[in-house]
This record gives sequence, C-alpha cells and structure tokens, in this order.
Amino acid sequence: MNRRDAFRALMGLVAGSPLMAMPDDDVMGPINVHEFEAVAKSKLHKMAYDFIAGGVEDELTLQANREAYKHWFLVPRVMVDVKDIDTSTELFGVKVPAPILVAPTGGKNLVLPNAESIVAKACAASKTLFCTGSGAERAIDGAESVHWWSNTTGQATKEQSVNYAKRIEDRGAKAITVTVDNQYQSNRDRNNRNRFDYGYMATGVPQDATTRTPRNPAKAAMWLPHTPNLTWDYVGWLRGATNLPVLLKGVLAQEDAAMAVQSGASGIIVSNHGGRQLDGVIATIDALPGVMEGSGGKVPVLMDGGIRRGSDILKALALGAKAVLVGRAPLWGLGAFGQPGVERVLWMLAAELKLSMALAGKPNLASIDRRLVRRA
Ligand SMILES: Cc1cc2nc3c(=O)[nH]c(=O)nc-3n(C[C@H](O)[C@H](O)[C@H](O)COP(=O)(O)O)c2cc1C
Repeated sequence: MNRRDAFRALMGLVAGSPLMAMPDDDVMGPINVHEFEAVAKSKLHKMAYDFIAGGVEDELTLQANREAYKHWFLVPRVMVDVKDIDTSTELFGVKVPAPILVAPTGGKNLVLPNAESIVAKACAASKTLFCTGSGAERAIDGAESVHWWSNTTGQATKEQSVNYAKRIEDRGAKAITVTVDNQYQSNRDRNNRNRFDYGYMATGVPQDATTRTPRNPAKAAMWLPHTPNLTWDYVGWLRGATNLPVLLKGVLAQEDAAMAVQSGASGIIVSNHGGRQLDGVIATIDALPGVMEGSGGKVPVLMDGGIRRGSDILKALALGAKAVLVGRAPLWGLGAFGQPGVERVLWMLAAELKLSMALAGKPNLASIDRRLVRRA
C-alpha cells in the first residue's frame, strides 16, 4: 500500500463526514497539515508566508506551543468497543461534527482575495464553526448556512460595545469572542525584516513589494494600540447588551480564568495568539490545566495553539478542553488549494482525531478524561 492509499484507507474511517466529497486530485497530495504548509509556502509571497507562519520576536512561544505536545503522553485503554466513534459535540447550542473550530485570523487576503468568505464557505461545507473578526458581516455573504462566532478586540466605550453586540446578534452570530491578549500590535521580527506593511493584510502583497523603500522596522510593527483600555467591566457591558455567549480568548493564568467566570464570561479560550503577541509566554497545552482549575468547571474551556494533528486535539480534550480552534492549519489549506484545501485540512484533522480516539479506546468525547494523558 503506498502512502496515498494508506491515507485514503484512514479517511475511509470517517465515511459519512460532510467532507467526503473529494475535490480534484491535487488537494489529495499532501498527507498531513505539515505538507499543506509546504505546498502553501511554495505558492505564497515570502512576506505573506512569514506573516502567517511567524511569531513574535524570538518565537519562543511559537515553538513551545508545538514542543509542549511532546511532553504530554497518552495512556490508552484497551478492549473497548471502538467500532463506532462519535466526535460530535454541541457548543452553545450549535451541533458540530467534531470539536474543531476555525480560529479568527486577520490578513487572510494575503493568501487570496476575498479569502475570509472563501474560508466561510469551507466552514459551511464542513459544518465547522467559523470564528471571524472584523468584516464578519461581509465574510459570511455567500456562506449563509455557516455558523459563526464574531471575534473582537473590543471597543473603547460602553456605547460602542453595546452597538457592536446588537449588530452582531442581528447579523446571526452565535457567540462573541473577545481577544484579550492583543492590547498592542506586537513586535514581529519576520515582518520587520521583510519591511512588511500591515496595509497588505487587506490588499495582499503587491507585485512590486520587494522594491519598496525599507522602513524603520520598529515603526512598522510596534506600538499600534488596539484596545488597550479593556478591563473586566467590558464583559459586563457585552453581557448586558446581548443574549449571545461571550468567550474570552487569550486567557493563560489560573487567576484570570477565575476572574473570567466571576465577571460573567460564558466561556474561556486558552490561547497565546499562536505565539504572536508576548514572546516567552507558556504553551497553551501547559496552561490548560491551570485554567481548568481556575474556571472550576463552571464554563466551557476551549484551547488553541500549535494544533497540527488529531492526537494534539485528543491531548487538549483529555486535559479538559471542550473543543479546539485551529489558526494556521486552515490557512495552509487555503494557501495550497483555496477552498478545497481548507475543507481538506479540516477533514484531515477530524479524521486523525477520530482514529486517535479509536486507538485510545475512547468511542466518544464524553469518555475522554484527564486519566488519558500524563506529563512526562
Ligand atoms: C495569520 C494569523 C492571524 C491572526 N489574527 C488573529 C486575530 O486577528 N485575532 C485573534 O484573536 N487571533 C488571531 N490569530 C491567532 C489565532 O486566532 C489563534 O489563536 C492561533 O493561530 C492558534 O495557533 P495555531 O496557528 O498554531 O493554530 C492569528 C493567527 C494567525 C496565524
């Protein structure tokens, strides 16, 4: 059996998946997320690739997010009937076939024009919850059946936040996620070195980009404030304005998890922005146990960061995550093959999770618990 046949056999395990309809053969080439990244890298402008792949400064946290999965080991159970595996779950009233969401990622147009709406369509096709930031309303045009969560870095005043919440609710969002680790644009060496212009996030990298006059790297990246005055009151403003669940994305400290619950947050997303904000912060899989402790099981906890494999997801679920978000993985699918690439990546991750659960003796999400993982 060659590599591709083996992969097809694996995919047979997820027969019935909404992504079973296979697109053209190209998209069948890469056999895992890493290989999708390699294809995307070969097709993207270096500035765009570096913007997506990169982290902040020395990229300690970017690497740690991946490395940390290596010190959490699975301790599978055997002699369990795993003929049928159910990966489905429900998140704030939305049923999803797998506990995998697409994370909010700005700058998708660096990959393809109108990319936000292409990813929305891929999410609709795969019944994946789509978390999307500014311009969400435009993004979901043409993908009306998609279930989406609106992501925001906050608004400066109570009045603005109330207006935002109402507008988003009217437009059909199922939840609001507030990114709480993005007070300022961070200092990203790759972007500085490339003289990356943050305006390209909307337009894509122009043909003549390499001939631009170099700019001061520090000026190009640092001290752009987003919403630096955000405090716990903000959660109350949103909760008072809308019935939508409000999740805080970017919580790492146990104390903040407790504060989030106290302030009325409906859920927590353990995240370090994919290693793109403060360098040297803890890997998300390592932060998850503390956040679980701090939240005391009172609200659902989700996690993102470094997920490239179904077994990474299984470890997060075992440590208490209700679901995970993936940031770069779908972007590599997008960069490699457009919408079919995004669908394929999401499907592959779900397939890998399903097989990992089977081999761990866990036929459904409810059977996964803390005893499944041990720290080396
Ligand atoms: C290109 C890119 C853009 C991102 N933009 C945002 C953003 O606008 N808001 C946000 O909360 N997180 C943003 N993130 C972080 C993701 O939501 C997510 O936390 C992270 O990518 C997860 O790590 P992973 O890429 O290893 O899966 C971005 C990540 C990437 C790679």
